[in-house]
Amino acid sequence: MFITFEGLDFCGKSTQVQLLEKYFTSKGGNVKIIREPGGTPISEKIRDILLDKKNSEMSIETELILFSASRSQLVNEIILPGLRKGTIVISDRFHDSSIAYQGFGRKISLHFVEELQSFVIGKAIPDITFFLDIPIKEVIARKSKVSKVDLDRIESSKMDFYKRVRDGYLYLADKEKRFCTIDGTLSIEEIHKIIINKVEELEKA
Ligand code: TYD
Repeated sequence: MFITFEGLDFCGKSTQVQLLEKYFTSKGGNVKIIREPGGTPISEKIRDILLDKKNSEMSIETELILFSASRSQLVNEIILPGLRKGTIVISDRFHDSSIAYQGFGRKISLHFVEELQSFVIGKAIPDITFFLDIPIKEVIARKSKVSKVDLDRIESSKMDFYKRVRDGYLYLADKEKRFCTIDGTLSIEEIHKIIINKVEELEKA
């Protein structure tokens, strides 16, 4: 099973990824957690370039290609071999992030971004994608709790950017059957319960 988590920065994905990992390991499952960008030695190097605030001159085209390069390595080195062995793969962000952030957020041709993503992921299509949806005002509230120096290059972007990214996720939620949208303002436990229910449904199917 291949599960991905998506959402705006500060939506609480990483906490839910950890809880889901615990759920599977407590049942004796073999789980591999990955985070995007990153997850392989090459991809982690690309991550450093992408998130380094000193790289403020990075073009949006370079950004898209680097995210995609990092992902391609992850698909070939970790995701596909893992799935072939029967490992449950959970990814904190995947190709939908590029559609939402680079396509909608950065306004790069959606058709091109989507084509590039299907080229990059090939057969590694998630079985289910949990989209933790939070309103923009919640991003601002959660962001203000983090000091400026702790924000990475992309998290420091303006709020109208986040509005477009959220529109991108809503577009995907409407288009993709694998999308499961969850209200990200619910409590950690409530969200976890919804996720477990969905996963159990999927296991039975
Ligand atoms: P990260 O620190 O992993 O943020 P988060 O914990 O919120 O996932 O940094 C990832 C940043 O990169 C985040 O702001 C989203 C952005 N991003 C893209 O713009 N495109 C992508 O394809 C991916 C995977 C991430």
